[in-house]
Parts: sequence; structure tokens; C-alpha cells
Amino acid sequence: MLLGVNIDHVATLRQVRGTTYPDPLEAARVSAEAGADSITVHLREDKRHIQQFDVENIANQLSIPLNLEIAVTDEMITFAEQLKPDYCCFVPEKRQELTTEGGLNVAADIENIKQACKRLASAGIQVSLFIDADKEQIEAARMTGAPCIEIHTGHYADAETNDEIEYEKNKIIESVAFAKQQGLRVHAGHGLTLDNVTDIAAIPGIVELNIGHSIVARAVMIGLAEAVREMREQITSSND
Ligand code: PXP
Repeated sequence: MLLGVNIDHVATLRQVRGTTYPDPLEAARVSAEAGADSITVHLREDKRHIQQFDVENIANQLSIPLNLEIAVTDEMITFAEQLKPDYCCFVPEKRQELTTEGGLNVAADIENIKQACKRLASAGIQVSLFIDADKEQIEAARMTGAPCIEIHTGHYADAETNDEIEYEKNKIIESVAFAKQQGLRVHAGHGLTLDNVTDIAAIPGIVELNIGHSIVARAVMIGLAEAVREMREQITSSND
């Protein structure tokens, strides 16, 4: 199971004060040394945390793969085509949201997303689509030609009662199995923490988890390297 560390909120800490620190590139390096398999950043259209120069610095100077999350817009696709990160994940974006609230509605926008995937594939970028654990969305994702999906685990993470947690978890388990049947590579992420990651990491078929907020929050207490190592170990022990 691969661990992609999302360092957006290192940039959030910098942006709230308009300082030059903490530096996301340094965070990416520390995470890589501590065992991250890839680094994820989300270049939002409102640039609330990661800036264009952060993405460029990381893409040009990091030794492990960069996964760039972007909205399906011409501006962002053009930027990705020029930068050529290893991976790109298309995500939905709303200006007012606190964080990405749900998956991309691929089923409602197949042709547009298909063209977007084609552009990035031509630039040699592996594309994934961030979608809810939903059969219709998975089928639509396959129709776009994207080789990979990332299943949104936010609803599972937000579930409160045991019944709700089981329900959301089972949806993810069924979706992973269905996506594998469709020949898709499956990642998962959003809202995962040391406490809730175990059940997701144990699902056969998921090859990568992308985790950000809880690792950066934990880093305040124990340091980033230790927070990455701790999450790595938790994921690895879930697979034992
Ligand atoms: N995957 C995707 C596609 C995301 O948009 C995010 C949040 O930016 C994450 C994973 C990581 O979520 P979290 O910060 O809650 O761990």
C-alpha cells in the first residue's frame, strides 16, 4: 500500500500570515525521507494554500513522484501540460467549501472529462479521477479512459454511528471491487486519520492512500517526519 502525503496545509500555515515559511518543498523532502511514496498538492483556483511556484519547486526538485490535484478547467490543464507532474488527479472545486466536499460528477460531464484526460495522457501524465464510492461514477470514469480513480473516503470519515461507519465502509469495499473489475487502478483518500485509516488500508485492491490534514496536524505535536512514519506504520500493520 503506497502512501501519498498531501502537504497543502503546510502552505495554509504560511498563507495565513503571508510569511515565507513553512516551505512546502521542505515538507515534501522531509516526508519523502520519512517514507512517503509520493507528494500530493492541490493547486486550487482560489490559491488559498499551494501557489503555482510551490508546485513548480516541488516538481523540479523532488525525487519522488508528484501528484497534482486540479479542477477540470482549461487554465489548470494547460498548467499541468506544461509542468508534466507524474500524476494528476481531477477534483471538483467550489469556492466556498472548506475542503473538497464530494467526488467529481463524472457521469454528468463524461465528454469534457474524457477530453481533459486525453490532454494529460498525451503529456505523459497518469490521470486519476476523484469520485464517490458509486457504481455509476466508476462506470463513467472508465468511459473517460482514465486509468485510475481515487475513491472519496470523506463520507466514511464523517460517519458517526457504527451503523453509518459500516455502511460507508461497505460502499467503499464494493466500489473498489467493481472498479478493479473495470480494470481501474484504485486509490483512496480524504479525512483519513490514524484512528480510521486501519479499515480502509485493509481493503484489498486499494493501492494508494492520499492523506494530508491529519498528518500535518499531527506534525505540530510530534514533527512531520514522525507523523509520516507513524501513518506509514499504521497502514502497514493494517495489511498484516
Ligand atoms: N485526496 C484528494 C483528492 C483530496 O482533494 C484531498 C484533500 O485535498 C485528500 C485526498 C486528502 O484529504 P485530507 O487532507 O483530509 O487527508
